[in-house]
Amino acid sequence: MPRKLAAGNWKMNGTTAALSELASIGHADIDVLICPPATLIAAAAAAAGDGLSIGGQDCHTGISGAHTGDIAAPMLADAGAKYVIVGHSERRTDHGETSETVRAKAEAALAAGLTPIICIGETLAEREAGATLQILTDQLAASTPDDATGANTVIAYEPVWAIGTGLVATTDQIAEVHAHLRADLTARFGAAGTDIALLYGGSVKAANAVEIFATPEVNGALVGGASLKASDFQPIVDALAAS
Ligand code: 13P
Repeated sequence: MPRKLAAGNWKMNGTTAALSELASIGHADIDVLICPPATLIAAAAAAAGDGLSIGGQDCHTGISGAHTGDIAAPMLADAGAKYVIVGHSERRTDHGETSETVRAKAEAALAAGLTPIICIGETLAEREAGATLQILTDQLAASTPDDATGANTVIAYEPVWAIGTGLVATTDQIAEVHAHLRADLTARFGAAGTDIALLYGGSVKAANAVEIFATPEVNGALVGGASLKASDFQPIVDALAAS
């Protein structure tokens, strides 16, 4: 069985004042993660309690070099990160990242001892064209390293049209996609593919978390807006632990 993970992605939000939120986020029984802006990772790792991990939101494919403004995976690890999000749709869109780039970033994360959270998702146009499952198969295959296991890698399904829009995929849509992704993972990785956690992301809130976590093959969530405040995020954490 995959481990359950409740992950928060703060995106480009938060200064040192936001660190006070971390005191009331965490859980003893499941994995809980906050990915703050890179500027806060070291302080967040110092502030986080035992039941909370800290991660990055992106990393470079290399370990060092002349790449102004970029951050290498070993630097995130050195700052106290345990995970790093790679291939978020905002990175794919804003920075033109391809699945091949995302895979190289995931490989860099693994080499640095970080758990990559590899994001995939279809656009509204792709869904309306009936291309969702093929797009996701292609993104998953091209973005995931060959040595991915349940112990070192997490996959996040985030339909682009559901991110930050208040539109949440229906549980039928989530169930269809997660069953498809699980089949892809087991076809490629065999039994190890059954252990890789599959997160759903896109307008997850306390109000919809219980039904999302009751959906087959949903092992957790990647949460944006509702992770910024502990009072919004911790109920999602608790719903996952109780699921
Ligand atoms: P929202 O939860 O704000 O829709 O964002 C989802 C997301 O992109 C998490 O990575």
